[in-house]
Amino acid sequence: MEYRYFGLNSGQKLLQNALRHGGFAVPAFNAYNMETVQAIISAARLTHSPIIIAISESALKYMGDDILMGLISGSKITPNEQIALHLDHGKSVESCMHAINIGFSSVMLDFSKYNFDDNITATHDIAKYAHARNVSVEAELGQLAGIEDENTFGTKSVYTDPDSVYEFVRQTETDSLAVAIGTSHGAYKRKNADEKLRFDILEQIQNKIPYTPLVLHGASSVPNDFVETINQYGGNLQNAIGIDTEQLNFAATKTHICKINIDSDLRLAFTAAVRKNLHDAPSNFNPREYMDAGRDAIRDYCIFLIREIFNSANKL
Ligand code: G3H
Ligand code: 13P
Ligand code: ZN
Repeated sequence: MEYRYFGLNSGQKLLQNALRHGGFAVPAFNAYNMETVQAIISAARLTHSPIIIAISESALKYMGDDILMGLISGSKITPNEQIALHLDHGKSVESCMHAINIGFSSVMLDFSKYNFDDNITATHDIAKYAHARNVSVEAELGQLAGIEDENTFGTKSVYTDPDSVYEFVRQTETDSLAVAIGTSHGAYKRKNADEKLRFDILEQIQNKIPYTPLVLHGASSVPNDFVETINQYGGNLQNAIGIDTEQLNFAATKTHICKINIDSDLRLAFTAAVRKNLHDAPSNFNPREYMDAGRDAIRDYCIFLIREIFNSANKL
């Protein structure tokens, strides 16, 4: 089914808009069930922000194609809401093609752990397929440490080499490029909160490819409030630490980073709210009560990021 049928926009339209106007980044929030899809879309609607609903391969497997697309269809998205549906960290050309065929408007092929030439060949293959259908493509150069998907856990990070980005983008025809400048996936990103992202590398990259929107993965800030609430109500997260919001705000408003990916923070918001809700109402056994609390917590945190950090409110 073509993505336009669902009222979606291509990812590239949103990202080029952000690059052209500057001063904001489009949030890409990961979803994996009805509550997360609803929370993300209502945050976008309440703030008039463009938004990307990011679905990992494991999230798609968890929901199933028909349930996900049923949720998207039932959300009654209209094109002027500027919402894209994006495959996050696609592991193969085939899985990207599959996502496009069921209605995704943007796909990421993550061949960042393979060598340069293999990354180019595969990315160009999916770019040809995607562009023939007006779907946009994201690729990655360099490697983030942390959980890249449910099966791999990379411990080393390799910064993106500014000298290779021009050739990579030229040969692959990718629409956007994910860069490694010191972020990593998950809730354990760094040893201390003061560690700086490599904005010097980012500047070199954007000078080489000024017309390509850049993407920041692994951008959760792991708010202390969420971690403390989780631990207060029976959880055990030790030394969880993320990217401070000042650096994120700088990336979103002062650089060519046009898409910022957030997954872990939404998981933390949801888990903190559910744990507290169950603790505060020990006799409750109606899941709707605590699922509702989790859904509201995600929506409110998305609104905070949109308004205060990514500056994407009212950018439709
Ligand atoms: O970047 C990876 C995302 O956080 C997706 O994680 O495969 O557990 O859904 P997941
Ligand atoms: P976080 O784990 O920092 O939320 O990163 C999410 C991400 O990059 C999804 O692709
Ligand atoms: Zn990612």
